[in-house]
Amino acid sequence: MKIIITKNYDEMSSVAADLVEKCINKKPNAILGLATGSTPIGLYKELIKRHNDNKISFKDITSVNLDEYIGLPGDHDQSYRYFMNENLFNHVDIDKTKTFVPNGKAEDLNEEAKNYEKNIDDLGGIDLQILGIGTNGHVGFNEPSSKLELYTHIEDLTESTIHANSRFFDSIDDVPTTAISMGIGSIFKAKEIILLASGENKAKIMQTLKDTLVTPLIPASFLKLHPNVTIIMDEDAASLYNQE
Ligand code: GLP
Repeated sequence: MKIIITKNYDEMSSVAADLVEKCINKKPNAILGLATGSTPIGLYKELIKRHNDNKISFKDITSVNLDEYIGLPGDHDQSYRYFMNENLFNHVDIDKTKTFVPNGKAEDLNEEAKNYEKNIDDLGGIDLQILGIGTNGHVGFNEPSSKLELYTHIEDLTESTIHANSRFFDSIDDVPTTAISMGIGSIFKAKEIILLASGENKAKIMQTLKDTLVTPLIPASFLKLHPNVTIIMDEDAASLYNQE
């Protein structure tokens, strides 16, 4: 894994945007794997800016998102479809019919998961996957567990995730308890992966990630097995990184 430590959140976002820009300019019809959460918002802002400056075009880009809450329709302001529209898609020249986010309201969720995974394969796999990380080590919504699902699946959210994500909802009771998420195997199909981490509240998990062996109890640890991963984190997230 390549590690880049940046001064602050803005620099983290800008370094990540450089890698996305490089990918898009090399392959204008790239398949981008996208993430939600507060961490990539700065990256998306930077990409919008570069789009407005005519440095990148999303015209031929296809995007595949990691996950979605089960039970929230795409127009719900806490759904990940809504997040992507608001934070990126509505502001660039991407063709929305080529932006994929799992449907958390699908009648048959297992069928939705199966089709979502097939779509990733039919697209030829993801060129560049953006990831955030949960304070418990989850990526997408792959929660710590004794065993991990390989491909897109239904996941029960842990209490720590429900608690962490409750900051976006009116009350903790409004946070969905299940989600549909790409699995670690789906993520591994990506040719290149960027994991972003920012802020002091990520320092502990980043330290744990550095020190741990590969274990399903820290889902992000599987990234150690992938040949092309870059971690970009700011100094706050890296504050415990070099301590023994
Ligand atoms: C959510 C998402 C993850 C994200 C994580 C961290 O649970 N499913 O994809 O990485 O939260 O979010 P944040 O970036 O807000 O810390």
